[in-house]
Amino acid sequence: MSFLDQIDNIKLPQHIAIIMDGNGRWAKQKGKLRVFGHQNGVKAVREALEGCVKANIKFLTLYAFSAENWNRPKLEVMALMELLVTSLKKEIKTFQENGVRLNVIGDISKLPSNAQKKLQETIEATKENTHCTLTLALSYSSRQEIVDAARNLAQQVKQGKLQADDINDELFSANLYTQNLPDPDLLIRTSGELRISNFLLWQIAYSELCFLDKMWPEFTKEDLFKSIVDYQQRERRFGKTSEQL
Ligand code: IPE
Ligand code: IPE
Ligand code: MG
Repeated sequence: MSFLDQIDNIKLPQHIAIIMDGNGRWAKQKGKLRVFGHQNGVKAVREALEGCVKANIKFLTLYAFSAENWNRPKLEVMALMELLVTSLKKEIKTFQENGVRLNVIGDISKLPSNAQKKLQETIEATKENTHCTLTLALSYSSRQEIVDAARNLAQQVKQGKLQADDINDELFSANLYTQNLPDPDLLIRTSGELRISNFLLWQIAYSELCFLDKMWPEFTKEDLFKSIVDYQQRERRFGKTSEQL
């Protein structure tokens, strides 16, 4: 039986975020180059996306490349950027067929120009799709995002458009790259690492965390469904007592 059948459609997470980790180690275990792992990671992206569409998840956010990942060997970085472009070319069909709207967060201006162009084209081509919003975090740093928001707000105060006292949770959230997304309900990380690596620090304040030992290229729809089932067995108390819920 599939874990899909065990999902309670009334308690679905609205937004799932995934730290896709372990491509390099997966390839190494097989005696291959790290890039082979990244290539196979694309299949897992498709699994995650199709799984979300099947389970009726409205927002999926994938950590694809961190600001810190620019420090990797140049060849690996170049291979990842190429893979981004070829995957976008290939997957546009999957996006249209499944009603997926593409969105990006991160410092896109650092990406090679062909990658920026392909991203913009794909965002434009899928902007009317409403079934699921796929957000790719690329050249993304959560601390940078928070600094940018603080700077934006400070400038508005300086220009007299805003009172410092009016800055609150909601306004701060509205100044993040994720302004149009709800906070993730569920954050999944593969590869057995138990850390956040500068991903959505503000937004995951109350997310349920799910760490899987599998490497990213091994991730399947069933892993996604099982994580959703796990999530649904948790009690989200948001500071209250169990009796108050
Ligand atoms: C995740 O896999 C993909 C990216 C960070 C781009 P890694 O490349 O981090 O794989 P490991 O963690 O070295 O195994
Ligand atoms: C986090 O993975 C970034 C992505 C998944 C894109 P890393 O493999 O870069 O994280 P660290 O360096 O092990 O924390
Ligand atoms: Mg890693």
